[in-house]
Amino acid sequence: MVQLKIGIIMGSVREGRMNARVADWVESEAKKKFGESALIEVIDLEDYNLSGIRQPIHFMADSSLAPADLKKAEAKVKELDCFIFVTPEYNLNIPPALKKFIDLLPPPIWWWKSAAIISYSMGRFGGNIVPHSLRQTFCEIGLIPVTKPMSIPFVHEEIDENGALVGQGAEGFQAEIEKTLDVFEFYATAIKEKRENGPVPKNM
Ligand SMILES: Cc1cc2nc3c(=O)[nH]c(=O)nc-3n(C[C@H](O)[C@H](O)[C@H](O)COP(=O)(O)O)c2cc1C
Repeated sequence: MVQLKIGIIMGSVREGRMNARVADWVESEAKKKFGESALIEVIDLEDYNLSGIRQPIHFMADSSLAPADLKKAEAKVKELDCFIFVTPEYNLNIPPALKKFIDLLPPPIWWWKSAAIISYSMGRFGGNIVPHSLRQTFCEIGLIPVTKPMSIPFVHEEIDENGALVGQGAEGFQAEIEKTLDVFEFYATAIKEKRENGPVPKNM
């Protein structure tokens, strides 16, 4: 049986972010679903100080001289099999901290891995535009987008500070996350099996 190493990537570093509550909820649902059959890790962009970095690691003349936090981010993505991006949308697009995290890293470390997107907003559309941009970016870096979308409107009312579903939509969101994780597991497992059994073509 395939053991997945799953990274839950937090898409916001905003002060007072809603992101933490959503990531907590997604982490606990993923742990419930996968139990011992997966290693689940939250990647908080706040733990990677990339703000002053102006050159992607793969564009550096000597990448061994890259800033430590950039090398740490590269190593982390390398060791994981698949990802769940938990993100808001900013002006209908990818939050800059998240886009920077992606752009500074070499595409081959994402190749033949899969990624689900769970977006949210404090408004009524649930950040349902940002997955379009993210999927486009995923395809550019060779990361396989999970087809099932999930978005959460009125996130501040639906999920509390402890990552618990508390709003009117609780029943629906519970069913949605279970479906989303089922589809994610299907892609992630199939792709990991194929990747490990090789041969693995270049994805560019
Ligand atoms: C710069 C910025 C742009 C935003 N743009 C959108 C948007 O395009 N669509 C939307 O539904 N909400 C938008 N919002 C509102 C967010 O849904 C809300 O602030 C949410 O809490 C952001 O996630 P965060 O708290 O985890 O950073 C925006 C918020 C910020 C700070």
